[in-house]
Order: sequence, then structure tokens, then C-alpha cells
Amino acid sequence: MSPRHSPSAVKASTSMSSSSPTVARVLIDPAGLEFSVTEKEPLLRSGLRAGLPMPHDCCTGNCGTCKFQLLEGEVLQLWPEAPAQNARDVARGRFLACQTTVTTDARIKALGWPGELVPNRPARMEAVLAERRRLTKSLSHFRFRTELPAVFLPGQFALIAFSGVEGERAFSMSNLPNAEGNWEFIIRRSNGPGTAALFDMPVGRKVHIDGPFGKAFLRETDRPVLCIAGGSGLAPIMSIMRRLAQSEGGGIIDLFIGARSADELCLLDEIESWRRASLTKANYVISAGDRSDWGGDVGFVHQFLVSRCRRPLSDYEVYLAGPPPMIDAVTAVLRDHDVPAQDVHFDRFY
Ligand SMILES: Cc1cc2nc3c(=O)[nH]c(=O)nc-3n(C[C@H](O)[C@H](O)[C@H](O)COP(=O)(O)OP(=O)(O)OC[C@H]3O[C@@H](n4cnc5c(N)ncnc54)[C@H](O)[C@@H]3O)c2cc1C
Ligand code: FES
Repeated sequence: MSPRHSPSAVKASTSMSSSSPTVARVLIDPAGLEFSVTEKEPLLRSGLRAGLPMPHDCCTGNCGTCKFQLLEGEVLQLWPEAPAQNARDVARGRFLACQTTVTTDARIKALGWPGELVPNRPARMEAVLAERRRLTKSLSHFRFRTELPAVFLPGQFALIAFSGVEGERAFSMSNLPNAEGNWEFIIRRSNGPGTAALFDMPVGRKVHIDGPFGKAFLRETDRPVLCIAGGSGLAPIMSIMRRLAQSEGGGIIDLFIGARSADELCLLDEIESWRRASLTKANYVISAGDRSDWGGDVGFVHQFLVSRCRRPLSDYEVYLAGPPPMIDAVTAVLRDHDVPAQDVHFDRFY
């Protein structure tokens, strides 16, 4: 059951228009901006669709960046067990905008307001699984096709919804935006029902793709670029690298790819072609597995950044993606080397 809540300390507003069963209005306090919410749509997505700088990171209930204070109106939690929210939050009238919708007109205070204004408003589209290809024991390449063009920036992600699985799952696009409507992903099969269903899904099955989301997209800059991928974090880094490979005279990109074992490294032909074309200096790091034929680095990527990068870390615009412990370890090293937070763009793959 998804509980409804209204703020105990605040009476329902009489100044706002009356609610409808399918559409309600939400006013953001004190910004004075209003947007409409369609039935069961998380507030975050309605706000982003309206072009508002809604604070957010993961869109999946894990990070807490989208938390808001309910001032007036009634909300419905779509996933009350979301990790980034606890009973104390709910008692104080604080909810996650990515996991909460409204059942009446409402007034809210977005706690991190304003967030970054993300280019390209997200859209929800029907998509068909067009292709699935195994890359390694745990990673596969997926291609979905939509009627509409695939509009996103390299580094962004989408939410995929499919029948039989509660909620949606976040995956980063590994290809480049295109008019043909191809959305490609590199997905790790975890122990959960979402990725299990995706790996067993027959080609031709329909899903819904909602996107793009995310702020770890490639910026226009003349500065040296450092890209770091851990595991399936390779997906957005491939998209960023593919875009950089198309641009002329951008200089050599320092690239780090971390994997559990040598046989979990993939797409090496493409990456090595970039190395041969002097586009990148690729560094591979494995943390476990059979090392008998492995001549490269062993450990975790953050341990090799300083020694393997061609410049001081503070010279770079940095893009990274992967599991939360890897992001935490890398960002700690970057902080220690005085890399400003605004030069570091990442997604934690919860
Ligand atoms: C921004 C971002 C980008 C990512 N990109 C990639 C990528 O490119 N490749 C990749 O392999 N992985 C990526 N991930 C990780 C990927 O989303 C997870 O591995 C995947 O969700 C696991 O799903 P599961 O069902 O197999 O596992 P589970 O552990 O069962 O699913 C966990 C996730 O499912 C969602 N969820 C579960 N139940 C509900 C519910 N009732 N209502 C709403 N949501 C629910 C939540 O997001 C939760 O974190 C990304 C994650 C994030 C946040
Ligand atoms: S954006 Fe809502 S919890 Fe991360």
C-alpha cells in the first residue's frame, strides 16, 4: 500500500485552484513557480518536464537530493520503502519528489532549491527491445527503439519500466543521441528482479523509456578530460568517449576502466582504436579474478589516478560513473588534490 499524507501543521489552501483526479497543481515555495502533475507521476518528473531546476540526482529513491517539505495539500508515496527516506522524514512532512505524487493541489518547499537546470526535458515513450548482445559474463548490451528520436546528452540516463516489475530502473545510455530512436545500454545483471527480467526479456517486447535525466553530461570545454568507469559505469563513459572521438583537436583523454576481473573488460577493440589514434591513454585496473595472464594494474582505480594521469588532477574536467564505493573513493582523491566540485561530474549506480 502507498500511504497518503497531508501536513498536520498546515491547513489546506483555499487560494489554489481545486484538484482534479488526473491533474493537480504544485506551487514551489518561495520560488513562486507552479507546475502540473498528471496522475501517479512523481513530482520530480513533472517538474523537470515543465523545465524547472528540480534538485535531483538518481531519480530512483536512493540519494535524497530531491527531498521536499510538504506545506499544503496531500501526497501519495509511490515507494514508501525508498532507501533515502525514513519514518522521521515522513513524520516531519518530508518526502522524495522522485517517489511521491500529489492527490490534491499542493504547496511544497524543495529543500535543495534550485537544482541545476538540465537541458532536454524528459519524455516518456514506448520502446521495443530491438537487440541484446552478451559482452561479458555479467554485462550485456541492450538496444531499445522508440518512434521518436533519442534525444539526450552523452553521460545522461533514462528510466525503464516494464511489466511485472515494481518501479523503474535507471540505466545510462552508452551510444550517442540519434534521429533513429536507438537507446543503447550496457547493463550488469544484479541479483534483483529488474535486471533479471531484462536479461530474460524476449526481443520485440515493449517497455517504457522515460528520459533523459542526469547532470553528469559532457560539457563543452577546452580543458583536458579525465574519464573513469567502474563496472557498468562504462556505459555513460562510452557515450562521452564516443562524442569526444568525433570532435577534432580535443587532446588526449585520460581514461580509467575498473573491472572485477580481466574477463569483465569489454569493448576493448573500440577503446584500443582510440588509443592507436592518440585520442586516449587507457588504463585498465582489475580488482580480483585470475591474474596469471594479466600484466596491468591490480587494485581499485582511485589508487592509480595520481601516478597514471599525465597532468595534475586539478587540470581536468572529470567524468565518472560506477558503484557508490568507487565514486566515494575517487571523489575523495579528487578533493585531496584540490579538484573543484564543479569540475567533477558523476552518477552513483545505486
Ligand atoms: C543514475 C543511474 C544510472 C545507472 N546506470 C546503469 C547502467 O548504465 N548500467 C547498469 O548496469 N546499471 C546502472 N545503474 C544501476 C541500476 O539501476 C541497478 O543495477 C538496477 O536498478 C538494479 O535493478 P534490479 O531490479 O536488478 O535490482 P534491485 O536491487 O532489486 O533494484 C534496486 C532498484 O530498483 C528500484 N526499485 C526497486 N523496487 C522499487 C519500487 N517498488 N518502486 C520504485 N523503484 C524500485 C530502485 O531504483 C532500486 O534502487 C544505474 C543507476 C543509477 C542510479
Ligand atoms: S533524486 Fe530522489 S532520491 Fe535521488
